[in-house]
Amino acid sequence: MRYKKLLVVLFIFSVLQLQSKEGMWIPLLLEKYNLAEMQEMGFELSAKDIYDINNASMKDAVVVFGGGCTGEMISDEGLLITNHHCGYRQIQSHSSIENDYLSNGFWAMSREEELPNPGLTVRFLEYMEDVTDEVLEGTEVFDTEGREEKIKDNTRKIEHKASERGKFFTQIKPLFYGNQYFIYVYKVYRDVRLVGAPPSAIGKFGGDTDNWMWPRHNGDFALYRVYSGKDNEPSAYSPDNVPYKPKKYFPISLEGVKPGDFTMVLGNPGSTMQYVPSHEVDMIMNQRDPDRVAIRDKKLEIIKADMESNPLVRIQYSAKSASISNAWKKWQGEILGLQRLNAVEKKQAFEEEFRNWAIANETWESEYQPVFQNFDSLYVVYQDIVKASDYYSEIVLKGVELFDLASRFNNIISSIENRQTRIANAQILAAEKRVTSFYKDYNQPTDEKLFEALLPMLNNDLPPVHLPEYLPEIISKHDNGKLVRKVYRKSVLTDMKKLEALLKKGNHRELLKLRDDPMIKLYNRLNFHYEANIKPVLDNVNSRIRQNMKVYMAGIMQMKEGQPLYPDANLTLRVAYGKVEGYQPRDGVKYTHYTTLDGIMDKDNPEIYDYNVPQKLRDLYETADFGMYKTEEGYLPVCFLASNHTTGGNSGSPIVNGKGHLIGLNFDRVWESTMSDIMYDPDMSRNIAIDIRYALFIIDKFAGAGYLLEEMELVGIETEVVDSIH
Ligand code: ARG
Ligand code: ASP
Repeated sequence: MRYKKLLVVLFIFSVLQLQSKEGMWIPLLLEKYNLAEMQEMGFELSAKDIYDINNASMKDAVVVFGGGCTGEMISDEGLLITNHHCGYRQIQSHSSIENDYLSNGFWAMSREEELPNPGLTVRFLEYMEDVTDEVLEGTEVFDTEGREEKIKDNTRKIEHKASERGKFFTQIKPLFYGNQYFIYVYKVYRDVRLVGAPPSAIGKFGGDTDNWMWPRHNGDFALYRVYSGKDNEPSAYSPDNVPYKPKKYFPISLEGVKPGDFTMVLGNPGSTMQYVPSHEVDMIMNQRDPDRVAIRDKKLEIIKADMESNPLVRIQYSAKSASISNAWKKWQGEILGLQRLNAVEKKQAFEEEFRNWAIANETWESEYQPVFQNFDSLYVVYQDIVKASDYYSEIVLKGVELFDLASRFNNIISSIENRQTRIANAQILAAEKRVTSFYKDYNQPTDEKLFEALLPMLNNDLPPVHLPEYLPEIISKHDNGKLVRKVYRKSVLTDMKKLEALLKKGNHRELLKLRDDPMIKLYNRLNFHYEANIKPVLDNVNSRIRQNMKVYMAGIMQMKEGQPLYPDANLTLRVAYGKVEGYQPRDGVKYTHYTTLDGIMDKDNPEIYDYNVPQKLRDLYETADFGMYKTEEGYLPVCFLASNHTTGGNSGSPIVNGKGHLIGLNFDRVWESTMSDIMYDPDMSRNIAIDIRYALFIIDKFAGAGYLLEEMELVGIETEVVDSIH
């Protein structure tokens, strides 16, 4: 008996050891699940230092930046740091050929020079709370559909109440596939100004070539300032606003990092799929990723060629191509990683283990066997419909660019047809705005090439049931070049002036005539087919898979009872902890945990856009003028690796040491780890951070904006040194 117990303890211990770094944990539950282990690994503070609703804690210094990044406060005067790639769109939107902040960088030399960013928000988390009981209240009496309705209804009411008449932005999110619900309550600040951004040759050094890779030399950071009304509360942009005083900001450590040091990442990971069945993994690696990679191959080939040959197109398409390329490259790494891990077989082995547990528990036949039978049949339908939806999404929704405008006109037309005058007028107003921003970043010849390449893919790769008859018909009527010319020459959408005039006038009868515009008509047929024949099937299968996942997940939770389990990421605040460490990507190769300016100089090549080091940085390297930012050995550190479990959304997250001091800024993962959203591998999964000392060096020595350091709290160096830097 004793022996058995010992074995169990040993087993749990070894599991914990193995999984010690996997996981994106809920701040509220750290004390219960993780704190002991964190402290053992070198964390010197308490769980309340991270998350506390009564006193200032780290969570008060971390924000959701924009739509899907993380940022953090680094001074008591509203200064915020996040990734260059998170602020990329704003930096681009302030840029023109004359004022090219993308290429040259931007540094406000005083508060007055900081640039406002309409539409950009940051959200501070006030609190999170388990509201499972409230969300599920009164749902027992319903069948599945009724229950979902009731849950939605409860959710709306709870969110509304917690918002305190609009004071807070509130969101209830399911955890563990709806086995639990949490509410997240935020304060949203809407006056966020750009303070500084390095040139792309630093902030995006290595570009798409180095993206998702190690060794990395990217100074991926940008500075913003959060402004509030005089009462420190959120306020729309106003010149009278004042810098926001956060409850908490991060002190910055100049001590640097050593292998084995404790690291913690606090941020907003977006989405992961750790618990999906083997069917889903199989479909992702063998169908979805390859499909989407192939479509994006085409897009990138076209866009990159035009960017190479035209500097205006480079500015116009830089953000678009970076975002197309990012997932494109990640999916390729994900396929390789899942193959290397034998992910499908591993999932199947887990499912076998689960089955045995359920059999022993006498719940297999009644509860879980039906779930797996459902998976078997649901995934057959899902695979087919997801293929169609991936193609529509990549080609119609975000492929051919003019479809964007076409969809707006299509909506306007249908509102007019349905006599929804008010809605139509609102849509007309919105379209007017969109036309201007659309054309700022539009190059028609590029789009024509996209049309010419992508439409045949849609037509050839999908079975006829997934296409409107109209598509093969017009494609076969024209040989391809002719179709492009006809559509683009005849469509009013290619004429900005005409469009603006049309929208300004807003005459419904005239707008109705656009039904016959060749681009709008084509879009209309594609969209109609999607809405009528693809989306309903997709939604239905999705929801049935979710219902089955909920049961399966409940089983996993029961099977793992007593062991810490983390829910999939959902763009809310999580904590990932690990260590500074390098890794061994393959036999005979070992990566160290850090890179330096020497590596940047090794890559320097004025002929290659991604590796063209700014002259000023070359000069600083020559004179080795690294000040207090250098390592003990005299190198200027650039990036480092750690084993924190992170994903998209974690970009810009603070990475702190055991004392809670900022040592870096998370911005990426390594190539061998891109499958960690689906399966984490302790040997390979590494996140990449920019060493905070490199960011400070760039601000101070490169940009000459050292005045910004005065409002920061620098720790880990002699104070005389701090006094002498300004
Ligand atoms: N891979 C990183 C992340 O997923 C950085 C992406 C931005 N950089 C780029 N070269 N596209 O967001
Ligand atoms: N680069 C990602 C982001 O932008 C982070 C990651 O996927 O590791 O959030």
